[in-house]
Amino acid sequence: MSMNNPSAFAQQLLAWFVQHGRKDLPWQQNPTPYRVWVSEIMLQQTQVNTVIPYYQKFMQAFPDLLTLANAPQDAVLHHWSGLGYYARARNLHQAAQQCVQQHNGIVPDNIEQLTQLAGIGLSTAAAILALAHQQQHSILDGNVKRVLSRYHCVAGWSGNAAVQKKLWPLAQQHTPATDVAAYTQAIMDLGATVCTRHQPQCACCPLAKGCQAYQQQCVADYPAPKPRKTLPYKKVCLLMLETQNGAVFLHKRPNKGIWGGLWSFIEYPDNLPLMQIIHWCRQQFNIDIHQQQIWPEYQHSLTHFHMLITPVHLRCAGDDFDASNLQASGWYDKNQLFIGGMAAPVQQLLIQLRRTS
Ligand code: ADE
Repeated sequence: MSMNNPSAFAQQLLAWFVQHGRKDLPWQQNPTPYRVWVSEIMLQQTQVNTVIPYYQKFMQAFPDLLTLANAPQDAVLHHWSGLGYYARARNLHQAAQQCVQQHNGIVPDNIEQLTQLAGIGLSTAAAILALAHQQQHSILDGNVKRVLSRYHCVAGWSGNAAVQKKLWPLAQQHTPATDVAAYTQAIMDLGATVCTRHQPQCACCPLAKGCQAYQQQCVADYPAPKPRKTLPYKKVCLLMLETQNGAVFLHKRPNKGIWGGLWSFIEYPDNLPLMQIIHWCRQQFNIDIHQQQIWPEYQHSLTHFHMLITPVHLRCAGDDFDASNLQASGWYDKNQLFIGGMAAPVQQLLIQLRRTS
């Protein structure tokens, strides 16, 4: 709605927000474009409660854009470790550097320049502009898609481009010209706390009167779920090489591919007999292994496949290691704090290794 009169939808939502909306989330305190941006990236695939401690530590380490841009990638990924979807962190870091190089160290305040930055799509750019600048832009994140698909009975999975083409104009139609920040937070909060995916609380929803799905008693049909493909399984071994004095071998994975830019144990691409793995290690890295143990296999699921990880603990005689085919690597005292990004399963293995002597 570009007129000054907000729609009934916006009015009801704003009135609800005054009483029930979340107003003390960390990124709502001093909502600068930078702080809002970081929060929106963290919140893309992660729940508020998980994000809060990560956000607070991230802001302590990188309180402003320039600090983030100048930080080493390892430090940024270290603060992201455990949050998953690490491309978000790599892009955020890269985009901070773009802001320094192209925009005098300032987060742009218009949608065209914002969406040119790494990792910022239309909805994230709109959220930054609405929440930090009170500019009239509409967002369409997962929460909003759910609210709108129910309110207007929009069929189909909301990741589908044709469905999004229907949802965007509806999002724009409801966005008021004033109170944009409150409205934007309100619609996200409604989606997160009332119009939830499972067991929505329609009885206390401020929009129930106009909600087509509620009126037709078919709320459960919206939004249509993502068509599920059965995900493939991929078997890998993680080779935990350890010297007699407790140094473990870690390498930084290339930016492309899973766990991009994170530090990991060497991945052996299949689950072959132990003797073959040892032979491979000797050949590949010119290292002498004198004790080996296979740990129980466990599953770690990612967006596109399930990983079945077999950790293999290999004790070696020394630290004479030919790492010429790895990007960045080295021996690290397993008991020391490691400053670099690490995927959760690798972190957990390191913790277990600390318990072995
Ligand atoms: N999800 C995405 N952005 C959010 C925000 N600002 N508050 C709560 N949840 C969100």
